[in-house]
Amino acid sequence: MSKNKKQPAPERAETEPTIAAGGGSAWPFVLLGVVLFGCFLHVENTGGAFRADVFQAGMKNSPPQADEPPEVKSYKRGARLYDACAGCHQPNGLGQPAQNIPPLAGSEWVFREKPDRLIRIILNAVEGPITVNKVTYDNPAMTPFRDALSDDVIADIATFIRGNAGWGNSAGFVTPDQVKAIRDATEKMGTQKWRVETLQAID
Ligand code: HEC
Repeated sequence: MSKNKKQPAPERAETEPTIAAGGGSAWPFVLLGVVLFGCFLHVENTGGAFRADVFQAGMKNSPPQADEPPEVKSYKRGARLYDACAGCHQPNGLGQPAQNIPPLAGSEWVFREKPDRLIRIILNAVEGPITVNKVTYDNPAMTPFRDALSDDVIADIATFIRGNAGWGNSAGFVTPDQVKAIRDATEKMGTQKWRVETLQAID
C-alpha cells in the first residue's frame, strides 16, 4: 500500500515543465518578430510608390512654394479650381451614383496615359449613356466648359484630377499647351457635347 509514495514521478514533474517552459516561451517572440518584420517590408514596398509631393499638394491650404516644380504648383491651383466640378462630382471625386453622377476617382476616362479624353470632356462635356467603372450613367447635367474656363485653368484641374493619389489616380500632369492644341483642333464642336463612341476612338 505504501509503495506508491516511492515513485519517482514527482521528481520528473519538477524538471520537465521547466525545460518545456523555457523552450516554449521563446516562440511567440520569434513569431512576433517575423510578423513585425513582414509589416516593415510591406510598408517599405508599398510606401515607396507613395508620392509625398502629390499628397502634400492635395492639401488645399498649403500655398505654392517658389522652388516647387511647375506641375506641383499646377496641382495645388487645380485643387482649388476643382470647385467648378465638386458640386456634382463631389470633393472626394466619388460622384453621386444615386443622382446619376459618375465618379472621377478611379475613372477610366480620367486615369489614362494621355489626357486627350479628359481635356475633351471638360471642353465639351459628354452625352451619355456613359459607363464608368462598370456602372452606366445617363444624365445631361454636365455642360461644356469651353467658354467658361481658360487653357490654364483646365490644365490645372486636369492635373489635379489625374494626379490625385488619394482618389487612386496617378496619371501625369497636363499643360496649357496641350489644352490649347485640343481646343483649337475641336473648335468646330462649339458647345455640342461629345458622343461616347467618338471619345472612345481617342487615345
Ligand atoms: C452639373 C453637374 C456637373 C458638373 C459641374 C461637372 N460634371 Fe462632369 N459629369 C456630370 C455628369 C452627369 C456626367 C455623366 C454624363 C452623362 O451621363 O451623359 C459627367 C461626366 C464626366 C466625365 C466622364 C465620366 C467620368 O466620370 O469619368 C468626366 C471626366 C467629367 N465629368 C469631368 C468633369 C470635370 C473635370 C468637371 C469640372 C471642370 C465636371 N465634370 C463638372 C456632371 C457634372
